[in-house]
Amino acid sequence: MILLRHVLQTTDSLSPAIASAVEQSLSKSIESRAAQTLGWLLATAVMVAIGLVVTLIRPADPYVSTVLNLPGNAERGQAIFQINCAGCHGPEGRGLVGPDLANVSNRKSRKDLIRQVTTGETPPMPKFQPSPETMADLLRYLETL
Ligand code: HEC
Repeated sequence: MILLRHVLQTTDSLSPAIASAVEQSLSKSIESRAAQTLGWLLATAVMVAIGLVVTLIRPADPYVSTVLNLPGNAERGQAIFQINCAGCHGPEGRGLVGPDLANVSNRKSRKDLIRQVTTGETPPMPKFQPSPETMADLLRYLETL
């Protein structure tokens, strides 16, 4: 009897203690999880915001915008093409080593055409560094092909 009472007493007195300990540690781990998740969310939001700001504020390539603002002259462009480009693209731009450029301006935006000529990203086509005026002339000519 004495023993049973003792056990009862101890379980009685122990169980609330254990329960509250378990409860506490549970709520603590939930809290820290929540804090962690919130932290990740915040970090992600900040990264997205920075990305957006950088994309929006980044000035357009000044060379490209200068070229795009020039009228360009297709005749001069043709002469430049004969000297620099016809060796690979043919005298009329109908293709030799390089591809046929017929309707190329329908396939590529003006920006992409400028990039194509100035970056050298698609060897063996070399990288050209025409002045903005020359590039504008070339662009006009390419648009006639
Ligand atoms: C050494 C040869 C070579 C010369 C010189 C050259 N190109 Fe090219 N060009 C190529 C080749 C090869 C490609 C195809 C690249 C690829 O996309 O794989 C190409 C692609 C292009 C394209 C894209 C065609 C398309 O269908 O998307 C354009 C536009 C172009 N060249 C314009 C020019 C102009 C303008 C010049 C002169 C300023 C020039 N190229 C000089 C070889 C040349």
